[in-house]
Amino acid sequence: MLKGKKILLGVTGSIAAYKTATLVRVLTKAGADVRVVLTPSALSFVTPLTLSTLSKHPVHSAYVENEETGEWANHVALGKWADLMVIAPCSANTLSKLVSGECDNLLIAVYLSASCPIMVAPAMDLDMSDHWTTKKNLETLEEKHVRVLPFGEGELASGLTGKGRMMEPEEIFDAIADHFDPRSKLKGKRILITAGPTYEAIDPVRYIGNHSSGKMGFALAQAAADRGADVHLVSGPTHLQHDPMVHRYDVVSAKDMFEKVTTLFKDTDVLIMSAAVADYRPATIAEKKLKKEVVDLAVIELEKTEDILAHCGAIKEKQLLVGFALETDDELAHARRKLENKNLDLLVLNSLRDAGAGFGTDTNKVTFVFPDQVREGELKLKTEVAADILDEIERML
Ligand code: CTP
Repeated sequence: MLKGKKILLGVTGSIAAYKTATLVRVLTKAGADVRVVLTPSALSFVTPLTLSTLSKHPVHSAYVENEETGEWANHVALGKWADLMVIAPCSANTLSKLVSGECDNLLIAVYLSASCPIMVAPAMDLDMSDHWTTKKNLETLEEKHVRVLPFGEGELASGLTGKGRMMEPEEIFDAIADHFDPRSKLKGKRILITAGPTYEAIDPVRYIGNHSSGKMGFALAQAAADRGADVHLVSGPTHLQHDPMVHRYDVVSAKDMFEKVTTLFKDTDVLIMSAAVADYRPATIAEKKLKKEVVDLAVIELEKTEDILAHCGAIKEKQLLVGFALETDDELAHARRKLENKNLDLLVLNSLRDAGAGFGTDTNKVTFVFPDQVREGELKLKTEVAADILDEIERML
């Protein structure tokens, strides 16, 4: 994954600089092409010889490489060469310069010339890491899309214990690898998805059902499997095919679905209830086909089905719960009520008033209703809506 990737490592004056030898080693071992720029104060903590030997390239720390010949380190070329610039460790001093642009060394000149993404692994002592100026500088970098890696915790050079250490080289390596091949947060997570309608039997030949095609739930299952999730799909009656990576359980009624979902729920990380579960079922199911001469079929007594999502909302521990609602009027008010009543983390709202949204279509237009905000989407393919929903779930995870 890192084979041939050009990584420019900036090392600054912090005791953690000695750990960059390991970082350079693991990066080059993974096939990355690593060039190193040191600030003048970094030279007190790690030698150029160590890093040039490990990176197999001369390292740079001054504008002028050879006073006699006038040979200089071309900071623009270095900045343009890199696929990724990583500043590790990033001292409080360098952090401040990354924000102010104060350019008093080669590393900052390279940073200002770089057109590649930037990642920083800050390192400083406990109180420095907690100072408002540090926090403000880190926030500003994040706003400017610089990837800020978190501080490590533990024993510090001062003897204090707490936040401020540089992230370990192996963790920085993982973050770099992740930058080039982003792994989904859903990877390895168990996602339980319900899809399709439920059929509530009246007698052996008749049922009460709805028009749900199951397309939204199947699109979600496919997309989640593509992101490496362990997907369990509980499907009402549909003709849709599922991805071979998806574990599928076919059910017919709301009761069947309730039983299957509650059995699987305990070990689930995320439940997405996209099934159109019937709210009512006939109070009794006739064993034989009802005859209209014998029974008045114009009146069927109904009883409420189990509300699967509300039940899971009531017993949830750490699971994320996503519900769907298809409304025809007063959409947002109904959606907010359902979100709260069913203890959900996200409610995906469709309105039948929107053309292209609803049953059977390949498109959908949804609004994301969270406990603290509402975000309206555009008309998209259900596969695209599935990706948007999973993005939101990843954010929440
Ligand atoms: N749901 C459920 N079990 C039911 C009914 C619904 O788990 N018996 C789930 C649906 O899968 C959906 C969400 O609850 O994710 C909202 O479903 P909806 O039918 O819109 O909500 P209700 O609470 O039944 O409200 P109403 O039918 O009155 O609009």
